[in-house]
Amino acid sequence: MEKTPQIADTFGRRFPYLRLSLTDICNFRCSYCLPDGYKKTGCESFLSRDEILRLVRAFSGMGVWKIRLTGGEPTIRPDFIEIARDISGIHGIEKLAFTTNGYKLPERAKEYYEAGLSAINISIDSLNPRQFEAITGHDRLAEIMDGMNECFRVGFKTVKINTVLLRGMNDDEIDDFVDFVADKPVSLRFIELMRTGENGDYFSAHHLSGIHVTQRLLERGWSINPRSEGAGPAVEFSHEKSLGTIGLIAPYAKDFCKTCNRLRVSAKGNLHLCLFGEGGYPLRDLLQRDDQCQDLQDKIMNLMNFKKSSHFLHDGDTGATPHLASIGG
Ligand code: 5AD
Ligand code: SF4
Repeated sequence: MEKTPQIADTFGRRFPYLRLSLTDICNFRCSYCLPDGYKKTGCESFLSRDEILRLVRAFSGMGVWKIRLTGGEPTIRPDFIEIARDISGIHGIEKLAFTTNGYKLPERAKEYYEAGLSAINISIDSLNPRQFEAITGHDRLAEIMDGMNECFRVGFKTVKINTVLLRGMNDDEIDDFVDFVADKPVSLRFIELMRTGENGDYFSAHHLSGIHVTQRLLERGWSINPRSEGAGPAVEFSHEKSLGTIGLIAPYAKDFCKTCNRLRVSAKGNLHLCLFGEGGYPLRDLLQRDDQCQDLQDKIMNLMNFKKSSHFLHDGDTGATPHLASIGG
């Protein structure tokens, strides 16, 4: 049988990593993402378990070995555990990760781990319970902290924390976050707020450049780690006295896109070559039967020719992305 070549684009970047959104629905109302909560758009359903399985099989046949399940809130799907189990059993998938808001994590962490999920990203935008509630609409910081500890206990290989930097809302907590990771085996990622179709005014009020984090870390004796081969766009910092590490994801920084190593598929089965910039290319019609695998792979290969060198956020172009819950952060 002819071997399918690995996914690459016209700029020589390779794509071993797929971020797959399982649902647009989220039960939180993060002020930068879904301030008024989730609102249904369109009437199509999200990909079924069978469609997901076919999709991941096709990608793994093209050299993808890392999958992240995202949303919305992926764990909201009643079949989340089954989906995780299906994917972790696919030949070639070496790492199955997910991003969650931490809802019900204390009681569910073990079940997630046993389903084959080995890496978790938990969103924690403030360490102050009142501020956490102001940002997410939920008074659940204590529960999420318990959930994180449970993840250490049950054996997750990687526990990461996502913290969106927000001027006037958590920029006074940078030192607290740095102290927080000192005794924990976590990697905390500060993420620069991204402008989306729906958060323009919010973006103007709360965007804070990641340079503030870099400056503070360097002042406190942290150093930038050398980039490891195949690593994504985060810049990683460490300190000999800290067990935890800190990363910075600064999508507006020069050259951010040069190390892009990921593709995205939305919950309705559209391939997004970039988080921003296009409406997505529908793949769903090729997810209906097992014998469509080759056609699906050919289609993905062809679409790679359309991947651009960079997003164009600098020009104020937010593409077609209304908010990140629609295609996974
Ligand atoms: N800018 C930056 N990060 C965002 N996320 C969602 N919306 C945005 C945005 N506009 C991130 C959150 C969350 C993850 C699911 O997506 O950090 O951790
Ligand atoms: Fe939900 Fe994540 Fe959006 Fe917050 S950022 S509203 S947790 S999808």
